[in-house]
Parts: sequence; structure tokens; C-alpha cells
Amino acid sequence: MTALGTPARHLGTVGSTMDEAAAWARRGAPHGAVVVAERQTGGRGRHGRAWTAAPGQSLLFTVVLRPSLDGERVGLIPLAAGLAVAETAQAFGADARIKWPNDVLADGRKLAGVLAETTWTRGRPCVLLGVGLNVAQDTFPPELERVATSLALATGQPVARLAPLRPLLDRLAEALAQIEADPAALVAAVEARLDGVGDPVAVRDVGGRVVAEGRVLGLAPTGALRVVTEAGEVAVVAGDVTLAP
Ligand code: BTN
Repeated sequence: MTALGTPARHLGTVGSTMDEAAAWARRGAPHGAVVVAERQTGGRGRHGRAWTAAPGQSLLFTVVLRPSLDGERVGLIPLAAGLAVAETAQAFGADARIKWPNDVLADGRKLAGVLAETTWTRGRPCVLLGVGLNVAQDTFPPELERVATSLALATGQPVARLAPLRPLLDRLAEALAQIEADPAALVAAVEARLDGVGDPVAVRDVGGRVVAEGRVLGLAPTGALRVVTEAGEVAVVAGDVTLAP
């Protein structure tokens, strides 16, 4: 297992740690290099959404990963990251669940998001894995207050912004090693924390088109979301899950 977090750059205000890490990776940043920011002015989320966080309240970082994995197993990295975040939050006392593929929830509200951007050069992957974990907020702006939470709110304890970074990177390193050693066990661990099993959902692609509507059954060994629809069972490999009305 290779440790993550070295070398590290701790920055103040950036556009996005994804862009900082991408530029660093192009200049040769090694596996495990991490960029941490206090504030982002152009934070990005999945599906082209913006990611906003009040300055100094969230743990915002991107880690550069250069794993020795084939394409199929590289596809499990976002799930592994969600699991690492959820287990870290649990260690702080939050009852953390995973909303497929890798949102981390506590009390049904979003605690953290994960964004993975992968490029391939000469058959070798470079994954920029960005994590935004709400840590110290005791309130959220009105548009987020019903849908977001923080470690401090979920545990009822003050938590320092950077406190989860080291345990999270250590847990992520273990989860990456598990992808190589026993991917089925990794997927099973994610499934054990999966939110919404049995719930009626709609899964949408990046363009907002519904690709599956039905009830969540769990995860396939590949990490795909198993949904039973009127036409039978489907395995969804990518998408955004919302509760169906
Ligand atoms: C999502 O839930 O849509 C994923 C959110 C990922 C946000 C993090 S914050 C650190 C890193 N930098 C970004 O611009 N995005 C990720």
C-alpha cells in the first residue's frame, strides 16, 4: 500500500483544486501528491455543477493518483473514495451513508462530494480525485440548509477543518489497495453503506435524460447500480440518482 499526501501544497484561495492539481500533474506530480485549499472561487461538482463552500469551513482537496490498475478497476476509484470519506466521517461520529455513486450523506443531507477526473497517457491512468467535505459549518445559506450538513452538525462536536485529512488519505490508500486485492470486497463495503436501497428512484445521465426508473436493489460486482424497472433489472454504470415522486 502506497501512502498518500506527500508532497502536499496548502493554498489559500484558488479557482479549483482540480485545476491546481491538473497543472501540477502535467509538470510531473507523483502519485499521492495533494493540493489543499482554504477557499475556491470556481469549485466544480459532478455533472458540470458548481461546488460552493464558505471559506475556511470545508476540507477541499485534490489528490493525484497514478494507480497500476486496468480501466475497469480505475472505474472503482470514485466508489472507493466515497467509502473512504464515509468511513472517515463515521470515525468522527457521524452516521455516514453513501448515495451512489459517491455522495456522502449524514442525516439524509449531503456531507461530502467526490469528483474524479481521469486521463490516460501511454496506457497509464492519472486520476485527479477531488473531495469537498463540509467540516466546521454550523449553519448553511438558505438554499443549502435543508440539503447540506457538516461533520460539526452531524456529530454535535466542533471539528477542525483539516482534522479529517490525514485519516481520510490513509483510508483512501487502503481502499485503493483493496481495489487491486479484492475489488468485490470493496464493492460489498460500499453496498453495506448504500443509501436508498428499496427506494423508488430516477437515474439521469449528464444531459438530464432519465436512463432508469425503478427501485434500487444494490450494487453489481462492477460497482454499477442495480435498479429493478418495469421492464426488468438494469445495471446503471453512471448517472445521478434522485428519489422518484
Ligand atoms: C459533487 O458532489 O458533485 C462533487 C463535489 C466535489 C467538490 C470538490 S471540492 C475540492 C475539489 N475541487 C473542486 O473544484 N471540486 C472538488
